[in-house]
Amino acid sequence: MQKCAEVIRDFVKNHATGLIVFVAGAGVLALRRWLAGGVCRSKVSLDGKTVLITGANTGIGKETALDMAKRGARVILACRDITRARIAADEIRQQSGNGNVVVKKLDLSSLQSVRDLAKDVQENEERLDILINNAGIMMCPKWKTEDGFEMQFGVNHLGHFLLTNCLLDLLKKSAPSRVVIVSSLAHEKGSIHFDDINLDKDYRREKSYRQSKLANMLFCRELAARLEGTGVTAYSLHPGVIRTELGRYLFPTFALWQRIIIMPFFMLIKNPREGAQTTIYCAVDESLANSSGLYYSDCAPKTPAPQALDDAAAKKLWDLSASMVGLA
Ligand SMILES: NC(=O)c1ccc[n+]([C@@H]2O[C@H](COP(=O)([O-])OP(=O)(O)OC[C@H]3O[C@@H](n4cnc5c(N)ncnc54)[C@H](OP(=O)(O)O)[C@@H]3O)[C@@H](O)[C@H]2O)c1
Ligand SMILES: *[C@@H]1O[C@H](CO)[C@@H](O)[C@H](O)[C@H]1NC(C)=O
Repeated sequence: MQKCAEVIRDFVKNHATGLIVFVAGAGVLALRRWLAGGVCRSKVSLDGKTVLITGANTGIGKETALDMAKRGARVILACRDITRARIAADEIRQQSGNGNVVVKKLDLSSLQSVRDLAKDVQENEERLDILINNAGIMMCPKWKTEDGFEMQFGVNHLGHFLLTNCLLDLLKKSAPSRVVIVSSLAHEKGSIHFDDINLDKDYRREKSYRQSKLANMLFCRELAARLEGTGVTAYSLHPGVIRTELGRYLFPTFALWQRIIIMPFFMLIKNPREGAQTTIYCAVDESLANSSGLYYSDCAPKTPAPQALDDAAAKKLWDLSASMVGLA
């Protein structure tokens, strides 16, 4: 007995460094696994279906498009930078073996561009089974869209609001069909500033991003209510924290030491393929067929912040948005 304890003591003494490295390594791997989050397990085929994804040239939009292509869908990448989008489409065609991947021009910071794309889709596509409102801009300086709206609200919410409304007839014709809205956990600290929707009086980058992501949530809720009985369902989601280009305007504002501290964290968070899982889940998973208007995270339903469940605010935002984009 005593001998045994001695042997263990000796082993620990002789291999202390190795043991520490092993335990730390296992810890990091477990942390990495945990941060990678949920996976969409649905094997559903999308043969004969059409999927449109906004902002699909990079980040989680591109990974979502690749997955849809692998499932056999006709995939439309709706992007503002045609050159980057064509390169992405080539890669997706190659990796999926699906040649039916096309690029269409869409700049969500221009209502005219949104209308032009919608017209193209209405006239040239036979169907639209899944619309994925993925494109997004985060924490940019105080910029305006072509139509004079604050940039983050204009791109993340208003552009997608108009696009979705313009495509509703085709979605209804193709029912059962889905609208997937990529929101964010950032909605939890957001509020809709109805008295200063463009944040002219007090622009702050995070305030604007949070408002736009809460607008995504309220839009999903009101859309689902309006679409009841049509066979078109709507889903909103938080994709996780992911290594993408989303921080392109935020990162340069950090001091060098801040960037260095962030680096290890950056290596551990979700990669774009992991970050696309909840979007894919909302787009295809059979178990969600009869759900609409709900919020998901890590491929599971999640309760959103109370202000995202405010039906009166959702209606008010709908009416305001409709008048801003000229739908009222
Ligand atoms: N990454 C995260 O940790 C995270 C967390 C929560 C939520 N999200 C949400 O996930 C979505 C995708 O973000 P991501 O992380 O994949 O970011 P990303 O790598 O920066 O990709 C964003 C995409 O949106 C496009 N886009 C930006 N402005 C546009 C405009 N005016 N018109 C058309 N397309 C435009 C970009 O096009 P260009 O390449 O031409 O700029 C790009 O394709 C966003 O809605 C974001 O809010 C991300
Ligand atoms: C959805 O509803 C239909 C009709 O009521 C039913 O046949 C189907 O099993 C339901 N699907 C799910 C996943 O709940």
